[in-house]
Amino acid sequence: MASLTVRKLDEVVKDGLRLRAARHGRSVEDEVRSILREAAAEPEPGRAPDERPQNPAPTARQAPAAPRRTAPMPGGGGRVLLIIGAGIAAYKSLDLIRRLRERGAHVRCVLTRAAHHFVTPLSVGALADEPCHTDLFDPRSEFDVGHIRLARDCDLIVVAPATADLMAKIANGHADDLATAVLLATDRPVLLAPAMNPMMWLNVATRRNVARLLQDGRHLIGPNRGEMAEAGEAGVGRMAEPLEIADAAQALLRPKSAGVLAGTRVLITAGPTHEPIDPVRYIANRSSGKQGFAIAAAVAAAGAEVTLVSGPVGLPDPEGVKVRRVETAADMMASVEAALPADVAIFAAAVADWRVAAAGDQKLKKTGEAPPSLPLVENPDILATVSRMEERRPPLVIGFAAETEHVIAHAKAKLARKRCDWILANDVSPESGVMGGDLNTIHLIRDDAVESWPRMSKDEVAETLVARIAAWRESRTT
Ligand code: CTP
Repeated sequence: MASLTVRKLDEVVKDGLRLRAARHGRSVEDEVRSILREAAAEPEPGRAPDERPQNPAPTARQAPAAPRRTAPMPGGGGRVLLIIGAGIAAYKSLDLIRRLRERGAHVRCVLTRAAHHFVTPLSVGALADEPCHTDLFDPRSEFDVGHIRLARDCDLIVVAPATADLMAKIANGHADDLATAVLLATDRPVLLAPAMNPMMWLNVATRRNVARLLQDGRHLIGPNRGEMAEAGEAGVGRMAEPLEIADAAQALLRPKSAGVLAGTRVLITAGPTHEPIDPVRYIANRSSGKQGFAIAAAVAAAGAEVTLVSGPVGLPDPEGVKVRRVETAADMMASVEAALPADVAIFAAAVADWRVAAAGDQKLKKTGEAPPSLPLVENPDILATVSRMEERRPPLVIGFAAETEHVIAHAKAKLARKRCDWILANDVSPESGVMGGDLNTIHLIRDDAVESWPRMSKDEVAETLVARIAAWRESRTT
């Protein structure tokens, strides 16, 4: 099929097209499509082709200024409703519109009233190629695309920037303007890209709202750590970059039946290892394996082919996962090597760093003399070994960093030392309750970027990780 570039037409023709498009409330591009569709249509019986009316009278659907109805994009780009909140990061949302459209998405925008201070409806509408919506009681909107229609005529809602105030309203079910009314009326997935001052992000009220939003099944991307617009301020609160948001949106837009990780081979380690002292005693740690098992379940549910190599834990096999149960670090190393190749490897196991150099064949007995000395030798570092493989290294290697202090600094050093691609750093100090507990606080570290996730359940950590891996996979194929 030939493709036409409207820009290359004569100015007079372009002016005519603009007038026609304005009269029909369409974009120029849509007007051209409609003319072509008309020209290609079979003539009605009894009417010769040249009798076709040149300027059909506008119908109700074509009433002037009525925004066009969205349809799924060819190629499955999806329909995104972008809600732009009132934050300095709103300028990045202009770029986000382009990034989403580049990926084939149809983008329709809602601007909150206060967001007008940061970007204009004109620039948003121009980039989205359709007028943006601003008012809950806009008679024009209510006529054709009221808030209920906006809430339903899309496959995904993205809120960027999601300000502290907007998140509080969504968490509490307010509906006092167009953006919040749409969010309350929707049954579509919602992706929030928070942006606020670090103190606001850390505020106990925001923490509570974020936890509630995650519990309600909303998805979050960012915020990232970095410098703030306010001079001299830095911390977690910067909105994720438009490319990151677009990748996360695209991952959420993939048809669920196919699974966002369909066709991906994922290898995961989980649980502790037991290093024998003698046939009845061993060295171990407090890892429950819950986080690794939750990741295996979420990754499998997303359609991946999963092998889980687990140390001794009391957890059932997750559905659809190939599970290899092992005891020691050496067994785990062998089992991991046997499970390669893989596209993604996630090392969530709390592998014992040392083993007893010469474990006794028989139970060690008290002799009434000095207790036995147990010389230790270092275990293989499975993550570092796989990260350094030349031929069978998975393209994405993810480690965990269990730290009790200076979590991010130690984790960054670990990322460099072990040569993996991402590290999920978590605080495992006794007061955090992470070891054996159900909650986790994660910082995702890749290159120099640190993304701090709010405290969430281990299942939610797994879901969030799936979304990041899906976005990574998407970025490699686009
Ligand atoms: N890891 C591994 N094999 C080991 C030790 C650790 O594969 N022998 C992996 C873990 O699964 C995790 C990462 O390395 O993904 C970091 O584990 P952690 O226990 O935090 O770090 P250590 O290497 O043990 O370093 P340190 O004890 O100094 O913190």
